[in-house]
Amino acid sequence: MIEIWKMVGKIADSDATVLIQGESGTGKELLARAIYDNSKRKNRSFLAINCAALPENLLESELFGHEKGSFTDAHARRIGKFEQCNGGTIFLDEIGEMSPASQGKLLRVLENQEFERVGGNETIKVDVRIIAATNRSLLQAVKEKTFRLDLFYRLRVVSFFLPPLRERSEDLPLLTELFIRRFSRKYSKQIKGIAPKAMENLSTHAWEGNIRELKNVINSAVVLCKGDLLIPDDFESFLEARAGFKEIDLDAAGDDYYQVFTCMLEPIFDGLCHKNKGSIYDNVNMGLEKALIQMSMSKANNNQVLAAKLLGISRNTLRDRLEKYHIGS
Ligand SMILES: Nc1ncnc2c1ncn2[C@@H]1O[C@H](COP(=O)(O)OP(=O)(O)OP(=O)(O)O)[C@@H](O)[C@H]1O
Ligand SMILES: [Mg+2]
Repeated sequence: MIEIWKMVGKIADSDATVLIQGESGTGKELLARAIYDNSKRKNRSFLAINCAALPENLLESELFGHEKGSFTDAHARRIGKFEQCNGGTIFLDEIGEMSPASQGKLLRVLENQEFERVGGNETIKVDVRIIAATNRSLLQAVKEKTFRLDLFYRLRVVSFFLPPLRERSEDLPLLTELFIRRFSRKYSKQIKGIAPKAMENLSTHAWEGNIRELKNVINSAVVLCKGDLLIPDDFESFLEARAGFKEIDLDAAGDDYYQVFTCMLEPIFDGLCHKNKGSIYDNVNMGLEKALIQMSMSKANNNQVLAAKLLGISRNTLRDRLEKYHIGS
C-alpha cells in the first residue's frame, strides 16, 4: 500500500490518463479519488460514471450528451458528463464493459479532446482528465477482441494494479487496525484492538470481497463487541454470512435491514448489473416484495387478514399485490 501511495504522489500532479485494475472491493474508486484530491484539478469537478450500469445508447448520451430528437426519448438537448466536467476529472468505472462504438468515441476524446453530442454535428472541445478502472483484465479483453488495443494503450499511460487482499498479508493487520479505530469512534466504543486468535481467523479467510468485505466485517464485529478487544465470537456470524439470511444474526442487524441486504447482494451484484442493466432497481424491489408477500401468505395459511396483519399493510394493498404477482391464483 505504501508503494501505491508513493506512486500517487508522483503522478497525481500530471494530467496523464490513469488505468486502475483490481478485483472488486480492492479500493479502485478510493484510489481514483486520492489521485484527484492530489492533482492540480482538485478544485474542479470530479464525476464518476459506471460504464456497466447503462445500456450502450444511454451511456453515450450520459457521456457525450444528445441533441433534441436524436432518439425517441430525447425531448430536449442534454449536456453530457464530458461537457459538464470541462477542466475537471472523469472517473470511468468498469471501462471493460464499454461497447466497441463507445470505445471508439472515447478514443477520439483521448486523442483530440473532441466529440459530438449524440445526433449532433457540432464538434465540441473539452479538457478532461480521465481515470479509468476495471475489475476484469483488459489485456484479456483485448485478446478476446472485446476491447480495442489502441484504447488500452491510450488509457494505461499510468497504470495501477491493486492486488487482492488475500495477497496482501502484510496489509491485513494494518487495515484491520484502521477500521477498528474508525468504527470504534463512530459507535462511541473504546475498542483497543483485536485478539490474536481472531486476527488469525481473519488471516485465513479468503476475502473474495477484498477490502470492502473486511470493512463490513469489522463494522459488524465492532457493533457486536461487548469488551474492549474484538474476539472470535464477534466475527462468527459475519465471516460465514455470504450464504444469505440464515447465518445472519438479526438482532445484530438492528431494525433496518441494510446490512443484511448488503451481505446478500454483494456477492451477486456484478452479476445483477450484467443481467439487468438499467432495470436493477425495479427487478430487485419487485422480487423482494413478491417474496415477502408469498412467504407471509404461506405462514398465514393463505388467510389474507392474517397475512396483511403480519406484514403491517392493509388488506386492500395485499389483494392488489397478490393480483400483481399472481400469487394464490
Ligand atoms: N486502502 C484503503 N484504506 C481504507 N479503506 C479502503 C482502502 N481501500 C478500499 N477501502 C474501502 O473499501 C471499500 C471498497 O473500495 P472501492 O469502492 O474503492 O473499491 P472498488 O475497487 O472500486 O470496488 P468495485 O470494483 O466493487 O467497484 C470502500 O468503502 C473503501 O473506502
Ligand atoms: Mg468501484
